[in-house]
Amino acid sequence: MWSLAVVWISSLLVSAQAQGTASFWKGNDRSGRCQYSFTVDSPKEASCPSAGTGPEMEALKSRLGLLEVLVARLAGGEAPGTVAGAGLKEAYSQAMREKTQLQREKDRLGQQVNELQLRVTELQKEAERLRSRPCPQVPSPSVPQHDSGLRPGTDPSWQYSSLGYQELKAEVAEVPASSPEATEDNTGCGELLSVGEPVSHRKADNIGGRYGVWMQDPEPVTPYDTGMVWRIDTVGSDVRQLFGYENMEQLSRGFPTKVLLLPEAVESTGATMYRGSLYYQRRRSRTLIRYDLASESVAARRDLPHAGFHGQFPYSWGGYTDIDFAVDEEGLWVIYSTNKAKGAIVLSQLDPHSLEVKRSWETNIRKTTVANAFVICGRLYTVASYTSPNTTVNYSFDTTNSQSKAISVPFKNRHRYNSMIDYNPVQRKLFAWDNYHIVSYDVRLGKQQ
Ligand SMILES: *[C@@H]1O[C@H](CO)[C@@H](O)[C@H](O)[C@H]1NC(C)=O
Ligand SMILES: *[C@@H]1O[C@H](CO)[C@@H](O)[C@H](O)[C@H]1NC(C)=O
Repeated sequence: MWSLAVVWISSLLVSAQAQGTASFWKGNDRSGRCQYSFTVDSPKEASCPSAGTGPEMEALKSRLGLLEVLVARLAGGEAPGTVAGAGLKEAYSQAMREKTQLQREKDRLGQQVNELQLRVTELQKEAERLRSRPCPQVPSPSVPQHDSGLRPGTDPSWQYSSLGYQELKAEVAEVPASSPEATEDNTGCGELLSVGEPVSHRKADNIGGRYGVWMQDPEPVTPYDTGMVWRIDTVGSDVRQLFGYENMEQLSRGFPTKVLLLPEAVESTGATMYRGSLYYQRRRSRTLIRYDLASESVAARRDLPHAGFHGQFPYSWGGYTDIDFAVDEEGLWVIYSTNKAKGAIVLSQLDPHSLEVKRSWETNIRKTTVANAFVICGRLYTVASYTSPNTTVNYSFDTTNSQSKAISVPFKNRHRYNSMIDYNPVQRKLFAWDNYHIVSYDVRLGKQQ
């Protein structure tokens, strides 16, 4: 009639928030186990209670209750009369010992419950504190860049992660401007004062996206608008696919709305988009191509006189980046070199319709020593390194007076393999392709001198 059953109770911390159910926590030991011995024969003991929740306490109480009833019965002589008095006494005192022990266990567990509840309250306070003051964080690729018209604060989903972004930008703003007398002017043209933190919009998901070029037409032509984003993954020997995305958000999601197959293969990452056309260098040639997006056909083609190509004068990372288109406030440019210039960068302004060279400037910087180049407000800028996470824009060339100068504007290659850097005059940002990452950088320009 008396049997010994052993009950295991394993305790787990379920969750700090789950106040009601987390009440059976045993210290910090998630696998802590308590052993209880009962001398009460109860059908309930056939099944062990599930992992540490409130009901265990209830089970413990009811067993204690059962034990008390039995003990009371024994004490009141309700047990079978044939049992010897000595045996009954022994059973009785054993039951009392068990009861005392159980009572101690109960008290101990009750104290643990109290401690746990205190801790849950503390954790809830901590959670509240953290919620009301989010940690600074780097904008993730899932946060799309919004059009310049949309400021942080207008969209709740954007607001959260923009906090970290604002902090980072504030950090950059403290870097001294390259010319102390220059003041900021967000609409006009001027010298490059600073480049912001890189913002990643999308990470390419396969090897074909290790390097590439992405663009937005600053002067789009119907059926496309300013939001349209274009992208070419340039890994491979026969690059012809041009992907179009309705906006930055779709680019971030990786959902193109347009895929065009170019009639001539693309060489490297120098392409650009301007006035409804894609401008690019035809593979293994110095031939420039203007591909009209509306008619989806080649509208103009022309050889760039004496231009080196296919590895003759690439940027320092290689990749056949010999001929690089650029667009700024003043129109369409091409950055390259020639044998005559002995590898120094030549900058030519092009007629966007015919691709004829309108004017050229020869600089005094070797193209193969720079990581990349871009044009802002008629000034050419070069970046020192394509791999260093902390490099500089260290040279500028002004087409208005043919003067070059050494500068030092910090620039970050966060992903350490920057294969394309272009300026977009409408977004007033640098667009770049850094080791699978499609990124952009805010720029600050000084006042026109
Ligand atoms: C800029 O950096 C490149 C690469 O480190 C270097 O070769 C070049 O001399 C630097 N130019 C200036 C003007 O400091
Ligand atoms: C990066 O450059 C900034 C400014 O040029 C400098 O203050 C900082 O120490 C550099 N960081 C590293 C890791 O080199």
